[in-house]
Amino acid sequence: MHPRSSLAVLLLLHLLLHCTASAPLTTTSFLSQYSHFGSFSRYLAETGLANSLFDRTNLTVLAVDDAVISRLSGESRDVIRKVLSVHLVAGYYDLHKLRQLPNGRATLSTLFQENGNPQGSVEVAILRNGGVAFGSNRDVKLLNSFASHPHGISLLQISDLIMKPQSKGDGKCLVFCPPARAISKKSEALPIDTVFKLPSPLPTWPAGGGFAGGTIDFGGLLVHQTSSFSKVWAAYEGGADNRGATFFEPSSLPEGYFMFGSYAQPNNRPLSGWLLVGKDQTNDISNGTLKKPVDYSLIWSSNSSKIKQDGSGYIWSPIPPDGYKAVGHVVTTSPGKPSLDKIRCVRSDLTDQCETETRIWGFNGNPLSVYSSRASNREVGALAVSAGTFIAQNGQPSSSPLSCLRNANHNISAMPNQSQIEALIKAYSPIVYFHPDEAYLPSSVDWFFTNGGLLYTKGQESNPVPVEATGSNLPLGGSNDGAYWLDLPLDGAAKDRVKKGYLQSAQAYVHVKPMLGATFTDIAIWLFYPFNGAAKAKVKFINLSLGRIGEHVGDWEHVTLRISNFDGQLWNVYFSEHGAGIWKGVSELEFQNANKFVVYASLHGHAAFFQPGTFLQGSDGVGMRNDVKKSSMFLDTGANYSIIAADHLGPSAVPVLPWLNYCREWGPRADYDAADEMQKVAKALPGKLKTALANAISGLPPEVLKQEGPTGPKMKPNWNGDEA
Ligand SMILES: *[C@@H]1O[C@H](CO)[C@@H](O)[C@H](O)[C@H]1NC(C)=O
Ligand SMILES: *[C@@H]1O[C@H](CO)[C@@H](O)[C@H](O)[C@H]1NC(C)=O
Ligand SMILES: *[C@@H]1O[C@H](CO)[C@@H](O)[C@H](O)[C@H]1NC(C)=O
Ligand SMILES: *[C@@H]1O[C@H](CO)[C@@H](O)[C@H](O)[C@H]1NC(C)=O
Ligand SMILES: *[C@@H]1O[C@H](CO)[C@@H](O)[C@H](O)[C@H]1NC(C)=O
Ligand SMILES: *[C@@H]1O[C@H](CO)[C@@H](O)[C@H](O)[C@H]1NC(C)=O
Ligand SMILES: *[C@@H]1O[C@H](CO)[C@@H](O)[C@H](O)[C@H]1NC(C)=O
Repeated sequence: MHPRSSLAVLLLLHLLLHCTASAPLTTTSFLSQYSHFGSFSRYLAETGLANSLFDRTNLTVLAVDDAVISRLSGESRDVIRKVLSVHLVAGYYDLHKLRQLPNGRATLSTLFQENGNPQGSVEVAILRNGGVAFGSNRDVKLLNSFASHPHGISLLQISDLIMKPQSKGDGKCLVFCPPARAISKKSEALPIDTVFKLPSPLPTWPAGGGFAGGTIDFGGLLVHQTSSFSKVWAAYEGGADNRGATFFEPSSLPEGYFMFGSYAQPNNRPLSGWLLVGKDQTNDISNGTLKKPVDYSLIWSSNSSKIKQDGSGYIWSPIPPDGYKAVGHVVTTSPGKPSLDKIRCVRSDLTDQCETETRIWGFNGNPLSVYSSRASNREVGALAVSAGTFIAQNGQPSSSPLSCLRNANHNISAMPNQSQIEALIKAYSPIVYFHPDEAYLPSSVDWFFTNGGLLYTKGQESNPVPVEATGSNLPLGGSNDGAYWLDLPLDGAAKDRVKKGYLQSAQAYVHVKPMLGATFTDIAIWLFYPFNGAAKAKVKFINLSLGRIGEHVGDWEHVTLRISNFDGQLWNVYFSEHGAGIWKGVSELEFQNANKFVVYASLHGHAAFFQPGTFLQGSDGVGMRNDVKKSSMFLDTGANYSIIAADHLGPSAVPVLPWLNYCREWGPRADYDAADEMQKVAKALPGKLKTALANAISGLPPEVLKQEGPTGPKMKPNWNGDEA
């Protein structure tokens, strides 16, 4: 066992002995350990609920912090008791159990129901982004999970109180429906009041071709991207951080251009987004590329909602003429239908299938959900692109869903050429920071090969061969059939040296791809690490080394930049994290040195993160840790990079590195047994924590605990497709 883990186990035993000596936990004493739930526990006591909870097991407490619970101040004891009893769930649910819910959702029984109110259940759903949301509108978010298995009490911190809607019949409040005034927020400046700008103005891109030309011809339909918006309507509650959302339309359009629909964004971040607008170039009156809608239907209105808002908002769907499709909604602030001239529908052959992406807005007790949209087909080279418009659903998904646009021209002339790609890399290439304790740094691929990387052939294990600098003696093509693999040098000293990598040699390997109808360029930046160190776990407050679990030879990691071909602006970055990952908007990045941004590589595992900290994969404070932090070790990916593929430039534009077409694994199958290692680590842990650790580990994506070397960039799903 690793010396650090035996120390951890000792500490843990000490902690446990100490705990078992103290009085058994009651719900309130459990809660009172967490100082920010002081008022919540006090309210439980004052309303008598605490008494009825004494000795109760199989309970989940949905608690809110002092700032949120202050919304109840001034309410009667009876109302407070009712509200709190909706937050006491009969049954034990920790994060792990929530994640196992069939279909990712459930209706949970609460103590409010047990007191004779049949409608008092609480809905819970696992969101597409992995988050957990409560309430019928999913706008109350899970912030934190604390659990005490031995007593069957789980404590979940949620972002807001769960309010029950008005009951249908008599219009009387079911639980707590204070007048709008009582819950209105103080008027405060919101993040969205600021328009996000990159730290430096965009450079002048090298001229030539259609890149950064401002417009792209989709085939009789000229398309332009705009970010100058005027605000139409805003709501100040619901949605992300309960700060509401704002709806915009383009503020001034070039001559002959029309909007396809409005833009919406949560208020909790600076305004940063775009819409596509279009101009019909056909002069064809009967069958042009754009047509006015024939009418509008009202999807939803806020006029009877008691939320804090600017006047009232009305969301409309254009009804397209035959042969045309609607691509966005119109938002107005009065009940009259918008002018038919306000928007254009698009001829069907220039449209494609669209889908909801992330939820932008909605609020408790109301069936409306507003989502961002994205094209359903996002393969490399696919023709569909969202117009940047939002999708509104009032309860059910609409029977006539909105469409995305389609670059029917099949024209990639707006893609950057080689000198433009180089200018983009110079402008945006990220700086990758390694953790101060990192022992396994990246290297170039040729450094790995020329410093002792070996090629093994199945059946001839005793006879590995050194690999040429470019990989020219590797078996190329074929499939990942286990017939060959790479490994570290055999000699102990050489092996240890190669494992550590060699930062000075490291190169960024760049793959450039046309995305979303060639309206965007994706630049995937790959780094190679000769070795991926062991995973570390966290069991409550204890750091635990997982023996050799997670160790493997050869590690490929990437981030992907999504850049507009209309003007060369960076809009999104994908951070890959152990076979999964996350897209971040440009306004969420940490910039350093003009428009270059920071990427944090996690300790040992090298997963990419956009901010420093410790990110736990697991639940209840038990799981695999990803530690990321700045240190003096970093790599400027723009300083030494190599474009490994840019197919749109033509077959001979980019010299092919032989190793790119090596399709087998970059490391051997594990020479340790993960189950044995796990047993060694878990053996010394007390029973409950052993189970908690085992549960947390078994819930991780397989990539995290990978035992064999990965395949190279070209074998990854994102080579020909969108990021996960
Ligand atoms: C707690 O829940 C478990 C599993 O659902 C069940 O087996 C057990 O009987 C419950 N205990 C109590 C006291 O309700
Ligand atoms: C990019 O395109 C422009 C215009 O066609 C041309 O002048 C320039 O040489 C091209 N650069 C490269 C590297 O192909
Ligand atoms: C309109 O133009 C499209 C694209 O050229 C074509 O597919 C369609 O058949 C035309 N419709 C009519 C009514 O002419
Ligand atoms: C809200 O708007 C709808 C649609 O225009 C209208 O029918 C309804 O009367 C309005 N309600 C109120 C309270 O203004
Ligand atoms: C592609 O678009 C460019 C710019 O609009 C145009 O010059 C070129 O002719 C188009 N190519 C094809 C094959 O349509
Ligand atoms: C870039 O990296 C390669 C591979 O390690 C190395 O051969 C080359 O000298 C480096 N170039 C610069 C300018 O550092
Ligand atoms: C756990 O490990 C992290 C990262 O190495 C370190 O920052 C932290 O102080 C450690 N905590 C304990 C309690 O050892």
